[in-house]
Amino acid sequence: MHTGLLHTHSALRWLGLFFMVAAIIDSGVRMKRPMKEGGPKFSLFALIIMHTQLIIGVLLYFVSPTIKGFMEAGDVMKNSLARFYVVEHAAMMIVAIAVLTVGYSKGKRAIDEAAKHRKIFFAYLIALIIIIVSIPWPIREVGAGRGWF
Ligand code: HEM
Repeated sequence: MHTGLLHTHSALRWLGLFFMVAAIIDSGVRMKRPMKEGGPKFSLFALIIMHTQLIIGVLLYFVSPTIKGFMEAGDVMKNSLARFYVVEHAAMMIVAIAVLTVGYSKGKRAIDEAAKHRKIFFAYLIALIIIIVSIPWPIREVGAGRGWF
């Protein structure tokens, strides 16, 4: 259960990042050259993938031996590795997903075409930055021993 979830969670980051970048480029272009709806729905795909990632992340949080180990060891806030997994990673990702969800729904409701894409562009850009800095990349201390996929 844990292994399957962890692999899915790890691989899904790339799909999510791909659609986040595609949505930002797409809305950036449409923001400058307003056009009616149509074309690929990158922002919707990114939203769906990120919400799936959120559900897997929450499940992982409850079955992860990493989280359990840190919780049992105690003093989570004093140990930077424990603090990252028990608090920072989950909290920052939830904030990022909230930002992109609000941006998407505000964008959807905007009447003006340029405003619609501008809202999505900035919300997704902020969310993407938060996501990138909160991933335990293998080149980071908190990601030591973890994979790229
Ligand atoms: C955009 C959202 C997210 C992305 C891109 C993401 C990405 C990642 C990555 C790449 C790993 C390392 C996987 C590996 O070592 O193979 C990881 C680990 C983890 N993530 Fe996330 N994550 C996200 C959201 C969340 C959320 C919202 C939670 C919890 C509420 C969460 C909980 C965890 C936990 C507990 C681990 C460590 C699991 C373990 O080692 O047993 N993640 N995440």
